[in-house]
Amino acid sequence: YEVTQRPAKIAIIPGLATEVWGYDGTFPGPTFDLRRGEATTISVRNELSVPTSTHLHGGVNPPDSDGYPTDLVVPAGHAHEHGGHAAVLHQGAKDYHYPLEQRAATLWYHDHRMDFTAPQVWRGLAGFALVRDAEEDALPLPGGERELPLMICDRAFEEDGSFRYPAHHDSDYMEGVEGDVILVNGAPWPVAEVSATRHRLRLLNASNARRYRLRLTPGGHFVQVGSDAGLLAAPIAHDEITIAPGERFDVVVDFSAYRVGSTVTLVNTLAGGPAGSVMRFVVARRARDDSAVPRVLSRPPERTRAVATRTFDFRRSESAWTINGQPYRPGVPLARPRLGTSEIWRLTSDFHHPVHLHLAHFQVLARNGRAPAATDGGWKDTVDVRPYEVVDVLARFDGYRGRYMMHCHNLEHEDMAMMADFDVV
Ligand code: C2O
Ligand code: CU
Ligand code: CU
Repeated sequence: YEVTQRPAKIAIIPGLATEVWGYDGTFPGPTFDLRRGEATTISVRNELSVPTSTHLHGGVNPPDSDGYPTDLVVPAGHAHEHGGHAAVLHQGAKDYHYPLEQRAATLWYHDHRMDFTAPQVWRGLAGFALVRDAEEDALPLPGGERELPLMICDRAFEEDGSFRYPAHHDSDYMEGVEGDVILVNGAPWPVAEVSATRHRLRLLNASNARRYRLRLTPGGHFVQVGSDAGLLAAPIAHDEITIAPGERFDVVVDFSAYRVGSTVTLVNTLAGGPAGSVMRFVVARRARDDSAVPRVLSRPPERTRAVATRTFDFRRSESAWTINGQPYRPGVPLARPRLGTSEIWRLTSDFHHPVHLHLAHFQVLARNGRAPAATDGGWKDTVDVRPYEVVDVLARFDGYRGRYMMHCHNLEHEDMAMMADFDVV
């Protein structure tokens, strides 16, 4: 595949044009439909005015294709990047190699440039990458038009329609930048026409900082079939789902439970934000439904016994957001797990920090020493660590040796140094 990062004017707010920085000039970027075992190269060309780094979130990839923050594609003609960080610079374009030796899952890709991830993702540099495999193909889950990847993110707009992002060093965005308009796949409050059948919704929270608690009105539930890193062993029904930045929930909603002609609204019930409608589904017609959610979905990889336990404390210090007291120092790993082993990583925090690990998928073992939440199930790559919580995860370091990272997926926290390297050895 080839994809070009470029600016484009698109219509988001009716009657106004918004300049986005998009993969192929679109927001979200193109959805890549990928298959397990089919190694894929995506050549990213940068025609923006700034350096970029593309990370496949949830991908199990060699370090030089992981989108390390100083592994930059600089626009052709720009000789060098700002000083300070030792950077690897690719002129104009870079090939990212994805072996795709991993289970079917809802992945996404986004910019990961050192210090500037948040404003660059806000401008539009994000999209879906769906990995499929034979295990998933064998299931009768809804597919085709009845499979909807839904990228949820908030944005703020200026009167002329351009994205509003606070100037750097604005002190009142320590909690991250939030907008007052919720977009789904780049559109405010969209309406989807659906038949009265099961649909598979691949929910992604691509917001910089906002969390959502999603419900269906007038009632109904989500049957979760997958988590960040692939299918669950068995489905789990939820009345509501809290989704933090970076997380994905793969759910099935059965629209035959509603009257034809009625509207089903996906709402955000979390206080402190634009509560209310995220998007609407109009149940337009009856239709045949051959889909089903089987009681056994998959055989996920088993947990293996941890060979080490490490603690990582996510906390604000005077000058930065830190991990174990350290603002991010590229090239100084905080851990050196061994390839092929599992470790317990204990994550503690002073605030909401959606903690994300590159490369390694994990299971949530405990929150504050108690059983994890119903929505913590399955193999994940991002976990919402809530204020003053202690979250234990069992992470499996499979894949490749080399330098990877963990960080807070509140993108402003990430840019304000809440990030650390780890080396798989
Ligand atoms: Cu989705 Cu390192 O991030
Ligand atoms: Cu990632
Ligand atoms: Cu954070």
